[in-house]
Formats: sequence, C-alpha cells, structure tokens
Amino acid sequence: MQKLIVQGGQRLRGKVNASGSKNSSLPILAATLLTKEECIIRHVPDLSDTNYMLQILCELGAEVERASGTMSVKAEKIKHDAPYDLVRKMRASICVMGPLVGRLHKATVSMPGGCVIGDRPVDLHLKGLEYLGADVKVDGGNINIQAGKGGLKGTSMNLQGRFGSTVLGTDNVLMAAVLTKGTTIIEGAAAEPEVEDLANFLNKMGAKIEGAGTTRIVVEGVKELHGAEHTVIPDRIEAGTFIIAGAICGDGVMVKRCVPAHLRPLTDVLQASGYDVTTTKDSVTIMPAKSPKGFHLTTRPHPGFPTDMQAQMCALACTTPGLSSAKETIFPQRFMHVPELKRMGATIELDGDTARITGVEKLSGCPVMASDLRASAALVLAAINAKGTTEVHRLYHIDRGYEHLDDKLATLGAVMERARE
Ligand code: EPZ
Repeated sequence: MQKLIVQGGQRLRGKVNASGSKNSSLPILAATLLTKEECIIRHVPDLSDTNYMLQILCELGAEVERASGTMSVKAEKIKHDAPYDLVRKMRASICVMGPLVGRLHKATVSMPGGCVIGDRPVDLHLKGLEYLGADVKVDGGNINIQAGKGGLKGTSMNLQGRFGSTVLGTDNVLMAAVLTKGTTIIEGAAAEPEVEDLANFLNKMGAKIEGAGTTRIVVEGVKELHGAEHTVIPDRIEAGTFIIAGAICGDGVMVKRCVPAHLRPLTDVLQASGYDVTTTKDSVTIMPAKSPKGFHLTTRPHPGFPTDMQAQMCALACTTPGLSSAKETIFPQRFMHVPELKRMGATIELDGDTARITGVEKLSGCPVMASDLRASAALVLAAINAKGTTEVHRLYHIDRGYEHLDDKLATLGAVMERARE
C-alpha cells in the first residue's frame, strides 16, 4: 500500500488538462454489452475503477483491447451473471445490470455491499426494472432478474427517491429500455452530464432517446443496436478539484479540456466568494481572491452543487476568513474528511447533514487517513497549503478516481511523492 508525502506551503500556478470522465466511462463501457458489434471508446481515464469495469466485461465474455485511453470492446457472446468477487470491488459495477436485462432479458448481479459515504441502496434501480416488467428476486446476496411472462414492455415511471434522482439508477433503466419494445418515459430522471453522455453514445448505437440531460427522458425501444465510436466527456469533478486547488493556494490556475458549463454550480459559488473566474469554450481559469469571503453551499442533483465536490470545498473553507457551511443532502453522512481536517487544525462543527467551518490562518501538516475518493482529494489540497509535511495514507482511494493526480498537481508547482506505507 502507498501513501503520499506532501510538502506544504506551496503556491500553484499554470495549466493542467482534465482527463476523461470516470463517471461517464463506467456506464458507457457497460453499455457496450448491448451489442454484438465492436465499440470504440476514447478518452477513458487510466484508473483502478475503469480497469475493474474492463475486467468485468471480460468476465462476462467480451473481448477487450486497449491502447492508452482508447478501448475496443466486442461483446459477441456474453453471460448474464456478474460475480461477487468483481462486483464487491466497485459499487458502480451495478451498471452492467441494465444492459444484461436489456439484451438477455435476465441478469444475476451481486448486491453491492456497504459504502463509507453512506447508505447506498439500489431499490430505485430494481423498481425501474420491475416497471419494465422484470421479475426481481434478491437471494443469497444476489439480485436475480428475469423478464416476466409478457417479456419487457415500455411504460412510464418516476425514479425520484428520498434523496432525489439516482444517476446509476437512471443509467440502468435507460440501458434496459433501449431494447425494450414500446415507449418508456422516465420522470424524475437524473440530469447529470454523465447521463446525457451515456444517452449520446446509445443513440450512436441506434437507440432512440430524447430528453437526456433533463429530468424527463423518453425512450423508443428498438430491436437491436450496432457498434459505435464515442469520446467520453471531460471529468468535471477532476476539473473542479483543480479549480478548488487554485482557489486554496493558487496564483492563476487554468484547467483546459473541460466543459465550463458543467462546472457552473462550482464557479458560481467561487465567484460569489470573491474569486476571479474566467472561461473559454474549453477552459476555466481561476485567479486568487483579494479578500475571499465565506460561502454556504447545499449539495443537490445536477444542476445543483455536486456532492462529489463537497469535501474539496470544505478544505477551501478551512482557510477562508469567516464562517462557511456545507449542507449535504445527497449522502448526509459524507463527512469522513472532517475529522482528518480537524487533525490538521481546522475549526469545523458537524451538525447532522451540515458542516460549519470557521476559517483559520493556516493548517498544519500531519499524518491523515484517506477514507474515500473525494475525501482523500480534499486532504491532498489542504496539505499543499498547510505548514509542514502531511502524509496521506491509503493512497489507493485516490487512484480509483484521479488519473495521476500527484503528477498533475506537480506540474502546477505542488511538491509531493509516493512512498510505501
Ligand atoms: C453516482 O453514484 C456517482 N458514481 C457518485 O460519484 C455520485 O456521488 C452520485 O452519483 C451522486 O451524484 C458514479 O457515477 C459511478 P445515486 P450513484 O444513485 O449513481 C439514493 C464519486 O465520487 N439512492 O445518484 O450510486 C442514494 O443512497 C462517486 O465519483 C436510493 O435511495 O448515486 C443517494 O442518497 C461517489 N436508492 C442518492 O439516492 C437507489 O436505488 C443519490 O445516489 C439509488 C440511490
């Protein structure tokens, strides 16, 4: 296992490119199971999560070839059961369920286990598939799905849950519905850019989807899909992480190859807090704020403020003068970063689903423990700005979702190195 040793007191400046989106690549790679023909997916980031997905596709019978960020997948003959051993490593592997049900009208997928960011049921995924006419049984840790007597049939449904829309739930129902005869209408759908990117890929394969990127999606089922080529969208969460790094300790940071519109929920908060943010068609530049002020954010499904940037914004608030707060409405317990930031000297009061942060002059470097992907990114950002040296343990959390984060931050002036635990 590795750790990251970060030298504090650094200023960041310069340009960095965003990688392809992890949360777009995962469902899009799963969608290649919907056709026998070859699919070419470009700009797939080199992450442990995308590698897991490719392993799962191979386990299910697909032929996979890769050349740096370009993946060729041909799922000519496939099995319907995704084994526990693979699914347990990555929750997002649940998104093979929709394509298997859509193409084979049956699937056996291991029920995903617990997650440190909070309770993450899949009841909405299953409800959506039941609406399409599937019989769903959970038995022995497995989800067994079989098309009912009448086969699958398009219908209308609402996928809103207690915490709002579901991203992978919308993806799964979408991928089952594209090969289901009739019209499927998904109300309360997730409107994230990654859902829209998946729909764009499916339409290239011959699907008939309208309304992706909004909360109402209409799918006209087709008999079969063909192979297609697609380039995944840039990773807005990775890009946002670099922009927040530029706010914390930057003297001009430009993130290139990103989609500024996807980052509006973040840049709106930063501009209101006093940062000078400028954009071009594919870049965002952040300049230091003369007198930054506290901010108050509430996470919501897109186009609300993304929960996957909440932890990084908490790191910013730690050294922002005055009071800031972050209310987490999607994963109310998603505050694993808080005790570690407090170890570095932050002043944070946790009150249920809200963190209230009073800015301090400077944090101090010390050993901290990464717990999940975004929390670990927040600790790295805080460490770059802190006094002294910080050791971030369990680095594997970062490698799940950030492509060469340490190298990229080093191009902006950060000083850090990997070492054995
Ligand atoms: C996706 O997870 C992302 N993962 C997450 O990013 C992200 O945090 C999340 O969407 C929210 O934006 C991928 O795309 C691979 P949800 P997903 O279903 O789809 C509840 C990262 O850091 N819910 O939209 O699993 C759920 O508990 C990861 O990259 C149900 O109640 O999240 C949560 O409170 C972490 N029943 C809320 O809905 C369900 O059946 C939103 O979850 C499904 C979800």
